[in-house]
Amino acid sequence: MNVIVLHGPNLNLLGKREPDVYGRETLEAIDAMLAEEAATLGVEIRTHQSNGEGELVTAIQEAADWADVLIINPGAYTHTSVALRDAIAAVGLPAIEVHLSNIYKREPFRHHSYISAVATGHICGFGSDSYRLALHAAVRLPDAGA
Ligand code: DQA
Repeated sequence: MNVIVLHGPNLNLLGKREPDVYGRETLEAIDAMLAEEAATLGVEIRTHQSNGEGELVTAIQEAADWADVLIINPGAYTHTSVALRDAIAAVGLPAIEVHLSNIYKREPFRHHSYISAVATGHICGFGSDSYRLALHAAVRLPDAGA
């Protein structure tokens, strides 16, 4: 199984960005944890971060050639981007939406996700464990009947 993980805008700043909300782990550390976890689970993984909406759209389109599952933290584009939603719907890959923070405990503008309706599932609120849980869910997807 091939899994692609896409990180959206400002996630390159993890570690120093609002650590009380997002924790002190860097994105590098999260990617390293995912690579280790993927090796243990026996899946291939690629990770990519972009601050650009268009670049993320292109990454989703290109993922379809390689990946079996898409894990995506769209960052703030979660709450604004019809383009990301359309890209996920267009490629038809099973997608797992991830957030470090519990977006429903935060400002009302974060309560709506354009992505959730085209995602297979959604994990939020567990810090970097949200990604870990998503990877485990990805591996189990063929058996999950989702
Ligand atoms: C986030 C939540 C979003 O609301 C925010 O804009 C982010 C990070 C999270 O992982 O908790 O950039 O996606």
